[in-house]
Amino acid sequence: MVIRVGDPTTFGNLNPPEQVIQAVKDSIELHSSRGYGPSNGHLEARKAIAEYSAHQGPVKPEDVILCSGCSHALDLAVSVLADAGQNILVPRPGFMIYKTLAEGLGIDVKYYNLLPNQQWNVDLEDLENQIDDDTSAIVVINPSNPCGSVYTKNHLLEIIDIASRNRVPIIADEIYEHFVFSGHEYTALSSLSEDVPVLTCSGLTKRFLVPGWRMGWLIVHDRKGVLGKEVRKGLSNLSTRILGPNTLVQKALPAILTLTPQSFFDEVILFIESNAKLAWESLRGVPGLRPIMPQGAMYMMIEIKMGLFPHFKNDLQFVENLMAEQSVFCLPGQCFEFPNYMRIVLTVPEDVLREACKRMAVFCQHHTTAREKLKVIDCDVIAVASNVICE
Ligand SMILES: Cc1ncc(COP(=O)(O)O)c(C=O)c1O
Repeated sequence: MVIRVGDPTTFGNLNPPEQVIQAVKDSIELHSSRGYGPSNGHLEARKAIAEYSAHQGPVKPEDVILCSGCSHALDLAVSVLADAGQNILVPRPGFMIYKTLAEGLGIDVKYYNLLPNQQWNVDLEDLENQIDDDTSAIVVINPSNPCGSVYTKNHLLEIIDIASRNRVPIIADEIYEHFVFSGHEYTALSSLSEDVPVLTCSGLTKRFLVPGWRMGWLIVHDRKGVLGKEVRKGLSNLSTRILGPNTLVQKALPAILTLTPQSFFDEVILFIESNAKLAWESLRGVPGLRPIMPQGAMYMMIEIKMGLFPHFKNDLQFVENLMAEQSVFCLPGQCFEFPNYMRIVLTVPEDVLREACKRMAVFCQHHTTAREKLKVIDCDVIAVASNVICE
């Protein structure tokens, strides 16, 4: 069995609303939903996305390219902005798909640090120091996987300022757009940028709870025409590589984006936020753990005070043993280039989360108090995690 740990449908407790299901049922009857579409997507679907994305700034249908999931949009963005031998800057910790996409094309990945003690804000000095003559894009993930951070307007402006002074475009991964807990505000990065070109990548995946439908999009924001026609042409050419995304869902998009009730989104966020509070409350007193309360998205990062667990070499061995002893699976920080942490997923049913937190507490109690008696299970993490996709 393959477990996709970042898939909100895994446990069956979170489902799209009936309007979304109905939209696809209606689409299946259409003759036009069976054939190939234009490789950049059907015009009505691109129009619907342009309207849905008005919070990002002025968007026209010709600024939108439909993609097979947000990861395809990221692939187009990285491919069009960077050449082999150049580099892109990605956050650490961060979702690791950029490395896979870039390195396959001979593009280097350089990391800029996020600050765990400042709600995972960007270390601005580090970001600026990483930029060199070969830097072709800065990736910003907001809200963040794995941190669950949501940047304030001011912080986004600070990032944009660095990009502007150094003339580097931004790839804004906003697949968790609008996924924000109470008291926090999501602002589309592109809405704040005057001169820095922003390629925003998003999709239905998380917000509409349909990752398997593989419907994402890329939106070009280039108000001063800095990227010129070449980049738009390049994106259009690149989109022909897969002959366009799934037409069945494209045809359903106008209904999906306009008919989904706000109450559906509110309920999903409320559920995830309540799980975040539950996990934080349950784990904050556990010896050796320091959960960091997220502000949005679907994840929580937890620091593992490795010094209190001397029998474990690193976070990988910690989660490996947690899995072997308590059947609780967390992704080790190493998966996000950030050792001594682990990430938990907040979309699981409440009773499962409660039980998982209890077991984590038992595990930590045991390994911090009776550590000299301990015999660490030295299983190979690859064997444990080989069926788990790190997303
Ligand atoms: C930050 C981030 N970007 C992109 C993706 C990929 O989205 P999609 O499934 O739409 O390709 C994910 C999936 O977990 C993600 O966490």
